Amino acid sequence: MKNIVLCGFMGSGKSTVGKRLAALTNRDFVDMDCYIQDKANMSIPDIFSKYGEPHFRNLEQEAVAELSECKNLVIATGGGALLSDKNISLLKAGGIIVFLDITLETALKRLENSTERPLIDKGNKTEQIKKLYTARLDLYKAAADITVDANPDPNTVAFEIARALNLI
Ligand code: S3P
Repeated sequence: MKNIVLCGFMGSGKSTVGKRLAALTNRDFVDMDCYIQDKANMSIPDIFSKYGEPHFRNLEQEAVAELSECKNLVIATGGGALLSDKNISLLKAGGIIVFLDITLETALKRLENSTERPLIDKGNKTEQIKKLYTARLDLYKAAADITVDANPDPNTVAFEIARALNLI
C-alpha cells in the first residue's frame, strides 16, 4: 500500500497526528526531520547554522527519495518539503499527500514557544511565521491529494484522515 504523507506548515501537527494515524492504521511511522538528523548525526538547527538552508534542502531531498521507495509508511514531512517540485513528484509517486490545514492563528499560537525551528527563530518570529505561511499556503493546497482541517486536537485529525482514506 502507498505511503500516507503528511504535509503542512510548521505546527500543523504532522508528527503528533502521524504517530496516532500510524497506530490507528497499523503502519510504521517515520518523522522525516528525525530521519535527516539521525543520518547526519546532527540536529536541524546545527545543520542550518553550520551548513545553511540549501544543504538542509539537499539532505531533505535525499530523505524524500529514500522514503518514497518504501511502502506502507505514515511519513511526517518537514514544513518545507513541498517547496521542491522534485520532492512533490517523488512523494506523489510513492504515496498520498495529505495537507494538514491550520489557520494562521493556530500556527502563531502553536509556534509561540518553539525553539528548534531555525527559519522562525531569527528576527521577529510573528512576522516570519506570517510571511512563510502566506507564501506557502497555495503550494500545500495545490500539491495535496486530500486536505484535512488540522485545527482540532491530533486524535480527531488522525481519525478524520483514516476515515477519509477508508482505512477504518
Ligand atoms: C521547516 C520545517 C521544519 C524543519 C526545518 C524547516 C520549514 O519541520 O524541516 O526547520 O521549512 O518549514 P516542521 O514542519 O516539522 O517544524
